[in-house]
Amino acid sequence: MEFFTTVKKRHSYRGGFQDVAVARWDLEKIVQAGLDAPSGKNAQTTQFVIVDDATLVWQIAQLHSTNKAVQQARVFIACILDKNPEAIYEGFAFQVEDCAAAVENMLLAITALGYASVWIDGWLRIEGRAQKIGQLLGLPDGKYIRVLLPIGMPAENYKQPAKKLFAQRVWFNRYGEK
Ligand SMILES: Cc1cc2nc3c(=O)[nH]c(=O)nc-3n(C[C@H](O)[C@H](O)[C@H](O)COP(=O)(O)O)c2cc1C
Repeated sequence: MEFFTTVKKRHSYRGGFQDVAVARWDLEKIVQAGLDAPSGKNAQTTQFVIVDDATLVWQIAQLHSTNKAVQQARVFIACILDKNPEAIYEGFAFQVEDCAAAVENMLLAITALGYASVWIDGWLRIEGRAQKIGQLLGLPDGKYIRVLLPIGMPAENYKQPAKKLFAQRVWFNRYGEK
């Protein structure tokens, strides 16, 4: 898929998935796109667990989401960060930004390959879900799941939200100038 078409087509998908497997070959391509993302000082801090074991996928899906994409995911990608990130430049850590860059690259790869997903973050942070999933995936102490991507072949047309107009958010040279 052409790059700008992929960018436009990407959207958060919270609908159901077809009963179609996601090939490991495709999963490797998707996560490679995440690995290729920029990171602060090239520290490459984000780690990933690809969950395609049917029992584990089912156990994650049981954590009471109203989101059909979580309930029916064929695969999850868990993005893992350090609980106490190391400062790598002038006292700053960039793990969250590193992770976000990797997630966006993966969402674009998912879209380009015809699959769908949604960036799950807030849902993980309540009712101890990130910890519960971390236990299922054998995360060591000191690591946590920051973002979870449910993946599958979309079964519905899920509405894509409108974005604000270019002129509402962008200016050349001086903020707010007409
Ligand atoms: C940092 C971040 C956290 C998000 N967390 C969630 C989430 O927990 N659950 C969810 O359904 N969507 C989540 N989203 C997706 C946003 O709701 C979505 O990107 C936004 O509504 C715009 O829609 P679009 O992705 O279709 O353009 C998150 C997105 C970002 C960037």
